[in-house]
Amino acid sequence: MNIPTASTPDANAIFDPIMDHSEERLANPYPVLEQMRQSGGSVIFSPRGNQWLVLGYEEANSILRSKDFGKRLLENWKPPNVFLRGAMRMLRRKQGSSMLIQDPPDHTRLRSLVNSAFTPGVIHGLEGHIEEIANDLIDKMQERFKSEKEIDLISAFAFQLPVIVIAELLGVPTEHREKFKKWSNDITLAFSGSVNPIRMAKSYVSMLNLRLFLRLVIAEKRRNPKKDLISALVAAQSEDNDRLSNDELLANTVLILIAGHETTVNLISNSVFNLLQHPEQLAKIQSDPELIPNAVEEVLRFDPPVQIIRRLAKKETELGGMRIKENDILTVVTAACNRDPKIVNEPDVFNIEREHIKHLTFGAGIHYCLGAELARTEGRIAIKILFDRIRDLSLSDRQRTYKGPFSLRGFKELYVSRK
Ligand code: HEM
Repeated sequence: MNIPTASTPDANAIFDPIMDHSEERLANPYPVLEQMRQSGGSVIFSPRGNQWLVLGYEEANSILRSKDFGKRLLENWKPPNVFLRGAMRMLRRKQGSSMLIQDPPDHTRLRSLVNSAFTPGVIHGLEGHIEEIANDLIDKMQERFKSEKEIDLISAFAFQLPVIVIAELLGVPTEHREKFKKWSNDITLAFSGSVNPIRMAKSYVSMLNLRLFLRLVIAEKRRNPKKDLISALVAAQSEDNDRLSNDELLANTVLILIAGHETTVNLISNSVFNLLQHPEQLAKIQSDPELIPNAVEEVLRFDPPVQIIRRLAKKETELGGMRIKENDILTVVTAACNRDPKIVNEPDVFNIEREHIKHLTFGAGIHYCLGAELARTEGRIAIKILFDRIRDLSLSDRQRTYKGPFSLRGFKELYVSRK
């Protein structure tokens, strides 16, 4: 990788979201990202991560929409941390045929097989059922509030809703959801510069366990197909084997199960947190629920549930005044791009009535999040029902804890009580 042609901030002042997962950065990454943009511009080189960090909205948007930036970065990126290198090798070996890390034409073929399960029409048809699940979870929370002063919103609600929805959609038994949570946490935690041998081993075992579990579910669908996404994919395989190999079926099922809940847990909990921190704005949505879709959009911009997106430069190009060489790695920091003062006024202000909200939280271009409509729907329903049924909810005084990796930054626990 080449040294940049323009000046960059002091290497020690650069927060590299892949390499640094300190509690301090996880708790509030936004001020340091803004300082980096002010001192280094929209595109800066991180020697520690051996990669470019993209902090400007327009630059990020153009990368995500361009054919000159691809996905096969796992083969080319050489992270300085040897364990992180091991984690990348494991990801490539086990999840190499997931659509998330493919370029066309394979990406196009794989995505087209699952697209129809996530269209706005299909998701609209699920709304009533998502509401039922949310109401059921709130019934349980209300029951618990009779004897408990504080409840962890993540384990009681924010995790449960999306994991039940995505497991049902795939056709995976929901009673095993605590196991997915552990496996998924272990797997994702290996993809950070702070990974150590123990964490790496845990991640590997969890990856094997999750894949074995899903292999058994897939085998059951072959014998006994139902009306669910895995059965539909198995049927697509039997029509024409070239459309979807066994390995692709498994890797994409793993992807949808993990992507379908980890992210939305953060959307729901970040929404609850930011609204409880701004009671005057919460009061507005409680009296006018029509404001909820815009409020969810503002959370997606202001406190994104997914904070980075990565690409590989397929050819030499110039970006934000920097010369990017072929095979350089770029990390788009959506958490910074969404607050780029060139595209938004008062970027650090949380305002649910903001007009024309722009953000890159679901990405852009051919990899634009497959589950965006589902995530938005779950977020809106969760907020509406939670704050409608528990109108006096408040944040508990307990210290709040965050979980990494930075890419999926969110609360580990978020205790709430009633006023
Ligand atoms: C708030 C919640 C979510 C956020 C912020 C989010 C974010 C993202 C982002 C940024 C990408 C693009 C990655 C890239 O360009 O490299 C993506 C892709 C993807 N997301 Fe989501 N996601 C969310 C929820 C979901 C849900 C509920 C599903 C369930 C199906 C899902 C499934 C996927 C899949 C399968 C891809 C890969 C698409 C492709 O490569 O073509 N996501 N997501």
